[in-house]
Amino acid sequence: MNNPLILGIESSCDDTAAAVMQGNRVLSNVLSTQFIHESYGGVVPEMAGRAHMENIVAVVDEALQKANVEAKDLDAIAFTQGPGLMVSLVVGTSFAKGLALSLNKPLIAVHHMKAHILSHFIEDERMSPPTFPYLCLTVSGGHTQLVIVHSPLSMEIIGKTIDDAAGEAFDKAAKMLGFPYPGGPHIDLNASQGNPAAFSFSKPRIEGLDFSFSGLKTSILYTLKKHQETDPEFIQKNLFDLCASVQESITDILVDKLKKAQKITGIQHIALSGGVSINSGLRNKIGLWEKDAPELSFHFALPKYCTDNAAMIAMAGSFLYQEKHFTDQSVAAASRLSW
Ligand code: KG4
Ligand code: ZN
Repeated sequence: MNNPLILGIESSCDDTAAAVMQGNRVLSNVLSTQFIHESYGGVVPEMAGRAHMENIVAVVDEALQKANVEAKDLDAIAFTQGPGLMVSLVVGTSFAKGLALSLNKPLIAVHHMKAHILSHFIEDERMSPPTFPYLCLTVSGGHTQLVIVHSPLSMEIIGKTIDDAAGEAFDKAAKMLGFPYPGGPHIDLNASQGNPAAFSFSKPRIEGLDFSFSGLKTSILYTLKKHQETDPEFIQKNLFDLCASVQESITDILVDKLKKAQKITGIQHIALSGGVSINSGLRNKIGLWEKDAPELSFHFALPKYCTDNAAMIAMAGSFLYQEKHFTDQSVAAASRLSW
């Protein structure tokens, strides 16, 4: 079957999401974001697990209703097996297993990061998916990876962060600047009014294609501390410039490695996935690169498919369905799922 009807369920972190897709066409895409973590500076696992339990039935129900689909007509149920927060993953995994068992439908376990990478195949009005093989920079709150995507089911990691993820770097810097969690979008918004060259932070010196953001985090912390000793209102007075400079540093690190990876691999199709790929500073830098290198093609998913969503889980599920990549009822959630 070319266009299976798949229900996707995502609960790896702080978003409870469900989507119904027919092949690569989205029939519904429902998301319930947990704002309860905002004031805690990060996701509180126990609260996340509880909120998923409260929301999951309503979210799946809404996805089926919006798609005008009855559960009995689904071809398969795809769910995020990992990686992610265990207390969150078990909710989606257990729910998907129960649903598949009761409906006697195939069950498909999806790797969250691979789903981010395959989000480029979700149909949208612009629709220009990358051609294989493509180079994918996946930048989210938990991961930062450079991946060669040979085919939907064959992906090779060629670089990754050795400490914090890019989204984590944004969120930790944002916390120091006084923003609620997740702070990445706040930095992006305020950076547009600041000078990216106002402050310079130390750059990592990591060989090869791996990333590091922990030194940058320390450098930002020391800069803030040093200035606050003489001016307690330093952050408020320089907020726009600080945001612009932080964004400049993080996006420089990302684009430098992506350019290096392109040079080494010679791959001409380049895609960016994950929540950080929405960042306007990052998109501007890619835009400048694109002007200099017309032989390369660049691909961004729509913002709603960059951050966590269930359409990407159903999309990955659809590719796995074609290969009959089904799992049985012994499957368990895995916070560190192997590639
Ligand atoms: O992919 P995602 O929704 O979830 C994970 O799988 O982690 O990514 C969330 C991350 C958060 O760290 C958030 O701050 C960051 O993406 N993010 C951004 C922007 N929008 C979301 N970072 C920078 N600029 C943005 N506009
Ligand atoms: Zn994600």
